[in-house]
Formats: sequence, C-alpha cells, structure tokens
Amino acid sequence: MDIDTFYTDHWREIEDERVERYEQMFVWQDAQAKLLEPSALAPGHTVLDVGAGPGFFASGVAGLVAPGGRVHGVDINQRFVDDANQRFADDERLQFHHLTDHHLPFADATFDRVICKNVLEYVPDISATLDEIVRVLKPGGRLQVIDSDWGCVIVEPWAPHTVTRFFEAASPAFNEPYVGRRIAARMADAGLGDVVVRMSPFADQSGRGLHVLRNMASYINTFATLPAEEVDELLGQVEQALANNRFLFCLPQFLVTGDKTNKA
Ligand SMILES: C[S@@+](CC[C@H](N)C(=O)[O-])C[C@H]1O[C@@H](n2cnc3c(N)ncnc32)[C@H](O)[C@@H]1O
Repeated sequence: MDIDTFYTDHWREIEDERVERYEQMFVWQDAQAKLLEPSALAPGHTVLDVGAGPGFFASGVAGLVAPGGRVHGVDINQRFVDDANQRFADDERLQFHHLTDHHLPFADATFDRVICKNVLEYVPDISATLDEIVRVLKPGGRLQVIDSDWGCVIVEPWAPHTVTRFFEAASPAFNEPYVGRRIAARMADAGLGDVVVRMSPFADQSGRGLHVLRNMASYINTFATLPAEEVDELLGQVEQALANNRFLFCLPQFLVTGDKTNKA
C-alpha cells in the first residue's frame, strides 16, 4: 500500500485477522449508550451511522430509537457491509450500504440524526464528508461525532515523549490524527449551529488499551517509522507493567454535536 493513502486504503482492503479483531473490539456494550446522550435519540428517529464497520454500534443505536426507529449504516469496506447485512438480516430496523466515495446514497433531508464514531480521522476530505452529512440531515436534525485525538493519550509506564514518538510514528495511518480537538471548528465551517464539545474519559487498567497499542505497533512496523526492536521493547514494557498492576491507558473521546438550522 502507498504510505500517502494508507489511511484510507487500509480500510478498503482488510485482512481476515483484522476483521476478527474488529468484530471483538467494536461489539456493542450497553454502557456505550451514555456516549450517545448528546444525540438525544428518541423513539421513531431515522438515524445514519457513517463508518458503521461491523454494524454492532448501529444495532445498539437501533435499540435506542425503538419503537419505530430505523438505522442505516454506510462504510467504504464492502466486507463489513456484506457481513453486517447478513448478521442483522432478521432485524428490519437495520440496513447497511457500501460507499465508494464521500457521496451518501440518500435523498436530501432524510435523517433525524447522524452519528459518526471513530471514522473522521480516516476520511480523505473532512469538509466533503461533512457537507454530505449536512445535506442528508433534516432541518433541525443533529450530527454527533465521537472521536479520539492521538495527541491526548497517556500510556503508563511510558514517558510522555515516548508516547508522542510512538503515536507520531503511527500517524500515517490517519489523515487527521488530531481530529478530536479540530472537529468542532470543521462542523461550524460546514454550517452546523450550536456546536458543543463534551468529553468522555476512557481509563483502562485491565489491558484493553493494549489492543490499541498493538494495532499502532503493526502500523509502525508497516511504515518502518521506528526500529522494530524499539517497538518490541516498548510493548514489552507495557506488558510487564500490566503484569505488575502498573499499567494505565487513557484515551478520552470527544463527543461533538452540531445542529442543522431549521432554515438550512
Ligand atoms: C475505527 S472503525 C469504527 C467503526 C464503528 N464506527 C465503531 O465505532 O464501532 C472505522 C470505520 O470507518 C470506516 N471508514 C474509513 N474511511 C471511511 C470513509 N471515508 N467513509 C466511510 N467509512 C469509512 C472503516 O471502514 C471502519 O469501518
């Protein structure tokens, strides 16, 4: 893969091992409903989930807009879309669609809510994606973006400059690694009103954060942006800290909402 377009190519073409890992990582947990409180979802809402992946989050959302609600998921990865349609074939509230670019296959003013979770760091053109989202939102509808910011990570036992060095080495995997801090301004630029930023803490001592670090390590090894021995040594430090109850991984999520004005 070309390093300049890796951030999007690595989602279009995906290996079996990564699909399996994501099917475990992205499974819906009822506690995630809290992340969606700023959306003010209500029964009967029609919702779009942009970058729906395996579809578990969309299925959780479908439960929050029942009865009467519907959720459409879109994704650039054909396999995720096919698997999600198969997985949820018995749930008529859910449907998944493949995207070939930023165009959304829906009429203007279709959705009460649009949700986009951990996706915008990968899109080639955030403005084009936001313009499409605004187009398909109903007047009065709301977009909620949930995203990380790879400059806001804590990894114990690493020193802060080691964390920075590690995540910068992984940064070709993202088109906008600092999307969390920047998305509010981009949403306002797209014409959304009443843009509000909230934060959800994520502090892990149990080792779930290790999945993220191993994912980043595989990117770094692909790009060869750090010596492989250094990456192994760093992961070893983390594993040892976990074994000694000294591990901590913090990656706050930015929860950003914006409303389409009634006159738009
Ligand atoms: C980190 S996963 C998040 C999946 C899901 N939103 C969740 O949180 O469970 C990122 C997802 O965004 C999708 N994606 C990447 N670039 C995209 C784009 N330009 N348009 C739509 N989806 C995209 C990927 O295929 C992948 O399913």
